[in-house]
Amino acid sequence: MSYTITLIPGDGIGPEVTGATREVLAAAGAPIEWEIVHAGRRAFEEVGEPVPEAVFRSIRKNRVGLKGPLETPKGKGFRSANVTIRQTLELYTGLRPVKSLPGISTPYRDVDIVVLRENTEDLYAGIEHEIMPGEVISLKVSTRSAGLRIAQWAFEFMRYTGRREIACCHKAGVSPLADGAFLDAFNEVGADYPFIAQANLPIDNLSMYLAMDPTRFDVLLLQNLYGDIISDLCAGLVGGLGVVPGANVGDKIAVFEAVHGTAPDIAGKGVANPLAVLMSGVMMLEHIGERRIADRINGAIWAVLEERKHLTRDLGGKADTAEFTAALIDKL
Ligand code: NAI
Repeated sequence: MSYTITLIPGDGIGPEVTGATREVLAAAGAPIEWEIVHAGRRAFEEVGEPVPEAVFRSIRKNRVGLKGPLETPKGKGFRSANVTIRQTLELYTGLRPVKSLPGISTPYRDVDIVVLRENTEDLYAGIEHEIMPGEVISLKVSTRSAGLRIAQWAFEFMRYTGRREIACCHKAGVSPLADGAFLDAFNEVGADYPFIAQANLPIDNLSMYLAMDPTRFDVLLLQNLYGDIISDLCAGLVGGLGVVPGANVGDKIAVFEAVHGTAPDIAGKGVANPLAVLMSGVMMLEHIGERRIADRINGAIWAVLEERKHLTRDLGGKADTAEFTAALIDKL
């Protein structure tokens, strides 16, 4: 039995880190046929569209995808391919597990947080206009249905993973309608799950407590923009963007991707850390039921990190992408 899975190599460091991930998954014996399609800057330059229809067709057919980072031009150019993919395929939950790893020097140990980010609304609706020169309005979209949908997903996630506490983080004091509706949805759905510990706190308080003691948090539920920012903050607690995987999940489709972007400062140099995309690939293997292979790769990751001999530069080592990948394959 083999699985056909959509692969979007991505822009910038994307092809380097997805390439390394493919090598490790193949070495671990993952029975995957990759269906390769392009999006982002590369697709825009080749066919004039950041997300060609072939991308949606492939993901809708295979129901599972692995995606490298895609460039979003600042200001003018084309609309974010990431946002387009998440919104069009209704991948409404951004799932980002942030966990302390061995061998990486960080100020904290034992961080184990899951960030759940609403992926489809908020400022990412892209409704922004200049009402007169120098005055811009940017709209934060928040619907009750999207709030209920992700709250339902989040509480089911709590139930089947047996996690300890979920906290909804917001700024309902300043935005009683948009953030208030998100919090109301959380409380409404949460009433059906009295056996799960529930909390809510303002996003600014959350930021302070994360800096003081991140180990007190378990699962965080946030709207799109807060989730984007807090994901990167949490990545910083465990070693940076090179080590945090993720998934964009809807009712039928899941697309796995790292939290990080295209890293233009190091793209093409062969020094990117492929771990975040590899760990996203491991989540993907768990999702399709290949837990044994996922565990094997996790074992190799642990062994290489603990040894500290082949760490990439972002983790304080000297290894390039190829050396790090070879060390992982060696451990397998
Ligand atoms: P970025 O995540 O690409 O880079 C931030 C910093 O982290 C840079 O110093 C970079 O070198 C470092 N970094 C990131 N990933 C790394 C890795 N695997 N190994 C070693 N170092 C790594 O964020 P930035 O610069 O804000 O965005 C660059 C581009 O990426 C933009 O066009 C942005 O829109 C896009 N982006 C795409 C995302 C996606 O496809 N999901 C997510 C975030 C940004």
